[in-house]
Amino acid sequence: MIEEPSIAILPGDGIGPEVMDEAVALLKDIEEYDPSFSCEMTSFLWDSNYYLENGRMMPEDGLDQLRSFDAILFGAMGAAHVPDDVTVWEFIMPIRKNFQQYINYRPVKKLRGIQSPLINSDAVDFVIIRENAEGEYSNSGGKLYEYTEEAVAIQNTIMTEKGIKRAAQFAFEQAREKGVKLTNATKSNAVIHTMKFWDEVVERVSKEYKDVHYEKVYIDALAALFVQKPQSFGVVFASNLFGDILSDLGSALVGGLGVSPSANINPTGEFPSMFEPVHGSAPDIAGKGIANPMAQIWSTALMLEHLGRSDLHQLIINAIVKALAEGFKTKDLGGDHSTTEMGAAIRKYVVKQLQGAVV
Ligand code: NAI
Ligand code: MG
Repeated sequence: MIEEPSIAILPGDGIGPEVMDEAVALLKDIEEYDPSFSCEMTSFLWDSNYYLENGRMMPEDGLDQLRSFDAILFGAMGAAHVPDDVTVWEFIMPIRKNFQQYINYRPVKKLRGIQSPLINSDAVDFVIIRENAEGEYSNSGGKLYEYTEEAVAIQNTIMTEKGIKRAAQFAFEQAREKGVKLTNATKSNAVIHTMKFWDEVVERVSKEYKDVHYEKVYIDALAALFVQKPQSFGVVFASNLFGDILSDLGSALVGGLGVSPSANINPTGEFPSMFEPVHGSAPDIAGKGIANPMAQIWSTALMLEHLGRSDLHQLIINAIVKALAEGFKTKDLGGDHSTTEMGAAIRKYVVKQLQGAVV
């Protein structure tokens, strides 16, 4: 565990600040009730209003300001008056790319008390590990003869030996640690240049992990298996685009956006990793106090695990399950509890456990 980790808090837009308040309150409670934990939080009010006033999403030295933190806790970004590609390419992507957060980590875990659209959703518990720095989202390409009948658009997928290898190693390490199978999501039968290369590198890495059961499944069949046999997965390893799509499918299987956490990880530790809910700023419900804070709180738990406190991670998951069992649910889960009521319920059971109770 890093001694008194420094955490950059980026609440963002819409429901971002609402759910972030609950996460920050939780961290403060943990500090108060766990003598072995303290952290230093610094908030940055970079949001779409900042963009309107300054013409940019963050100050010129914004990345430098964030660089020295041990972790970044992010809410969500996006508002009607700023184009979405600006928030993505001038805020989220620069952080992910400059800080070499080349792993996107998303647990797909069905918690007791949450309804799934699947008839049999018990024991769904796996993680999607997505290559997060290159591949289909490399921002390489262009247009020719725009606005004419000869118009052409080219988007390049860039896959590198180094990029695939380091992500695959992380995924195999996770599979080994968890004692589960690794499923490689591919489409090398049709995308014969990049995906075939992807498979070759992943298979080479698999030789270093002979103890890990390895399988290769085509992405179309895999999507069906997510619905038919979600219990059969342990670690699913995917390229940037495939992982993005599978993550939303996975999230829908276990309760939807309000409960789905994610982590953008720089495994080398050279730069801070960033933890954020999968959902966006939800302008349709912003300001109403009804957003589900679970995804933000679960992301906070992932952050604590990353900082070396897997015990606190587990304790937060227990508290979420307990709060659900006690009937606490926000509107998206079919209940009528507010953001603050849900957050307070989870905190209550975290504190109880820190005081020695089993919940
Ligand atoms: P969204 O995730 O914000 O909302 C989709 C639907 O899910 C909405 O009906 C919303 O009310 C609901 N929802 C989301 N989070 C919820 C929560 N915690 N509790 C209850 N209901 C919740 O996605 P949408 O509408 O496509 O995008 C809205 C804005 O967010 C856009 O500007 C978009 O660019 C941005 N966005 C930002 C992301 C980020 O910061 N990482 C990720 C996704 C979208
Ligand atoms: Mg997505």
